Amino acid sequence: MRKAVLVTGGAGYIGSHTCLALIREGWRPVVMDTFANSSPEAISRLRSLTGSDIPVCQVDIRDTEACRQVMSQYHCQSVIHFAGLKAVGESQAHALEYYDVNVNGTHSLLKAMTCEGVRHIIFSSSATVYGEPTKLPISEDHPLDPTNPYGRTKLTAEKLIEDVASSSADICFGILRYFNPVGADQSGKIGEDPKGQPNNLMPFIAQVAVGRREYLTVYGDDYSTKDGTGVRDYIHVSDLAIAHLRALEKLVGFDENFVVNLGTGRGYSVLEVLDAFSSVSGRSIPHRFNERRVGDVATVYADPTLARNLLGWKAELGLKEMCRDHWLWQEANPLGYDGEH
Ligand code: NAD
Ligand code: UD1
Repeated sequence: MRKAVLVTGGAGYIGSHTCLALIREGWRPVVMDTFANSSPEAISRLRSLTGSDIPVCQVDIRDTEACRQVMSQYHCQSVIHFAGLKAVGESQAHALEYYDVNVNGTHSLLKAMTCEGVRHIIFSSSATVYGEPTKLPISEDHPLDPTNPYGRTKLTAEKLIEDVASSSADICFGILRYFNPVGADQSGKIGEDPKGQPNNLMPFIAQVAVGRREYLTVYGDDYSTKDGTGVRDYIHVSDLAIAHLRALEKLVGFDENFVVNLGTGRGYSVLEVLDAFSSVSGRSIPHRFNERRVGDVATVYADPTLARNLLGWKAELGLKEMCRDHWLWQEANPLGYDGEH
């Protein structure tokens, strides 16, 4: 019998790709999602891609009783916790909501797990918990000093999980700090579908390439980087999905807590990403330079050594594949899942 894993936020961008990887490796994902920032169509696509009947529960993670029921009904033995709110700007305007979903939601889930005897949780954290880099590459022992409410909710949720695990032997965790997830599954059937104007670089570029937006604004050309634009560690979402499998196996197999970075260890500038995307899509991508975005830093990239040593995982796909697959998805779904934005 395939082992059931509760996947909160499983209809979202990273969650849907992880569900696909789970099914391909013989797990049974049980999706819990409110569809606050996703579409049920993502699940329909997953079902048709895999031929698997994926259970979906439209439940808010803050509803502890409902979480318990789902865990019990489907005999979930572990949890991969993606559900949350993730827009930095929005977190400044709606801090209460961000703490409620990201921190109270995690608390509710941990409570349900404890009641139902579900031991293992993999948590989606972010490189944003490090704040402004004091050294590069960023390893897991880098100081933690997030500069915005979103980052602080992620750090608070990390601490909450660690404290609950140290107060009770019943919970074990793997905390994964993602750098910049981009790309899509090679089928072109699932991908990133931001609601409204994208905040992040790759989805914005893709929407310019497909003709939904006129031009990309490049935030800053005077950073001390190779070409003056910001440098980030982009990671293919399919590589990221596989990392969750390795993390789950490690956690379930060894009952050992860990915190690891998930990145490639290599940084690319905005202009390098623009060039790579333009080249794989064959589209010109108009852009204009503007002031730096408030809160941005020049360069961020991971030290991915621990993930390699601990999980036996490293990113395999490069910038070209990231752009190629993001474009495959965007070109086939110019208006996203529901065709109306
Ligand atoms: P996403 O918005 O696509 O997915 C999150 C999912 O959670 C959505 O399907 C949404 O409907 C669901 N959700 C939101 N509130 C919920 C609630 N109260 N109860 C149940 N479901 C709820 O985001 P993503 O890019 O897939 O990110 C997944 C996780 O990874 C998030 O926790 C995010 O903070 C973290 N993360 C993302 C990135 C990134 O760049 N995408 C980087 C670092 C960390
Ligand atoms: C952002 C979030 C961060 C989150 C990460 C991954 C902010 C301040 N930080 O980081 O918390 O963990 O995404 O989801 O939002 N850029 C442009 N034009 C654009 C968009 C971006 O030039 O329209 C540039 C940025 O200045 C940056 C690079 O592209 O140099 C990458 O930006 P983005 O994709 O938003 O990621 P981060 O800034 O790393």
